[in-house]
Parts: sequence; structure tokens; C-alpha cells
Amino acid sequence: MGRDQQSVMSPSFRRRRIVALTVVGAVLAGGALVVGTISGQATHSLAGVVASSAPSPTPASLPIPVHTQAGPSRPAPTGSQHPATVPTFNGSARSIDDPTSLWVVVDKARALNPPDYVPPDLVDVPVPHVWEPRLRAEASSAVVSMFAAFTAEQGLQLQSHSAYRSYPTQVDVYGTDVTEHGQAVADTSTARPGTSEHQTGLAIDISSLPAECAFEACFGDTVHGQWLAQNAWRFGFLLRYPADKVAITGYAYEPWHFRYIGVDLSTEMHRTGVTTLEEFFGLPAAPTYP
Ligand code: DAL
Ligand code: ZN
Repeated sequence: MGRDQQSVMSPSFRRRRIVALTVVGAVLAGGALVVGTISGQATHSLAGVVASSAPSPTPASLPIPVHTQAGPSRPAPTGSQHPATVPTFNGSARSIDDPTSLWVVVDKARALNPPDYVPPDLVDVPVPHVWEPRLRAEASSAVVSMFAAFTAEQGLQLQSHSAYRSYPTQVDVYGTDVTEHGQAVADTSTARPGTSEHQTGLAIDISSLPAECAFEACFGDTVHGQWLAQNAWRFGFLLRYPADKVAITGYAYEPWHFRYIGVDLSTEMHRTGVTTLEEFFGLPAAPTYP
């Protein structure tokens, strides 16, 4: 199958495919698996103070912008850091509207512009997978580092299920979900074309290898899901759809969906405890489409 064959699979059908393909891959290849062949300008209102200790480990290839100005309105948190040694976080350092920005915020109220945007630097992601993954180059490197760290620390494996999806692919994914579950249900789990983070080349759906609870809320209870939830920030990723933020993100809990935002922002969000991009950047909640 080609890269975009994933497009015709509904979440439930994809779940069945994951289990089947993963079992085959595990039997054929053991540990090193390659499963399957498929593949603006808004003002940011929140910014804070970066912790004085850097996250560890940080993917060596990822540039970490140095911010020297505080954002416009976010109050400096209380803490023990000495002011003279604490660099400040500039919440306006990158655009949240430009689709090429690592900080682009895409949700039901913030469609990609243009809607058929294609990322400029898509590369293959050399990790075990169900569908052949592509991401933007920096996100790809971060995934490789994160998966390697997980295996080193836990002795277990992760795999990519779905990464970059083009606009036409999202048309198929969303259409299949609507056909199988109705639009109201589909809108709680699959983004309409032109509004998916997957189209930015910065989002990845991750499952365990072998797959357990793939695309299910119970993935968040697995060792894999718990490690990702606690450690993805170290590599520049954000668990984008938390269980307690459905009213803000507009999507049900997705413990498998991680969005690359860069280590500087992920570290700041981790440090401040803010868990959605909408809240961090002071944007309106996006529970429904306009
Ligand atoms: N499942 C997420 C919301 C997407 O389709 O992009
Ligand atoms: Zn996803």
C-alpha cells in the first residue's frame, strides 16, 4: 500500500489493522521492526520565565532559541531562581499563525492557512511503524531521540502509527469516520480537512510495540503511555489532547497524539503546568467549528 492508504481507514478499522500488522511485524523482525509499507500574526499573551536548569536529555540536533525578553503579560512565577541567573521566555518569539512555525496553533477555530498547506521539509522518520511515517525534519529527529530514550529507560518499544497526513489524506480519514460513526462523533476524534495538526508535519500518533490499547484511552494507562505523558516534553513534544481539556481542545482524550512544539516551548509549558496551546497563548477555547 502507498503512504496515503491510511486515509481510508476509520479509527476502529485502523485499530484492527494495527494489531494485525504489529503481530506480523513482531514475528518477522523481532526488535527492529518496520511494519507495513504504507506508508500570522497574533500577539501571544502569555509568557513566563524559563527554569534555570535545562531539560535532560535534549535532542542534540535541535536548536534551542535563546529568549531574552519576557512576554507581554504573563506574570513571573514565584520560585527560588535568582533573577540574575534566570533567562526569560519570550512567548512571541515565533508565530502561532504561520503554518511553518513550530508554534502554529491549529484547532477547530484556527484552520491552516492555506488549507492545503504542505510542509516544506518532510522527511522519513526512521522508527518502527505501522504506516510509513514522514514528519518535518526537526520533529523527525526528535521522535528518533524520544523513542531511543524510551527504550533505553524502559526496555520496551514504541512505534509510529500515523504522522504527516496531507489534506487529501485527511479528507479520506475524516470522511471514513463520518461514514462509520456520524459527523457528531467524528468531530470529537478526527479533525476536518485543513484543521488537523497532522497536516503540519509536526504531529504523530504513537502506540506501543507490540500494540496495546492503540488509539484507545487505555493507552494512557500503559507504561508506554505514562512515560510519554511524563517525558515527551523533554524532546519538544506536547500531549495535545488531555483528558481534562476537551472543552478547550474540542477533542476527546488522545494519549497517543503528540505535537512537536520545540524544546523551549515544551519546557516552558511543563514548568508552568499549562497543558494546552490555547491556554498558553491566551487563545479562545475551540470546542466547535465556527
Ligand atoms: N485526531 C486528531 C484530532 C486529528 O485528526 O488531527
Ligand atoms: Zn493524531
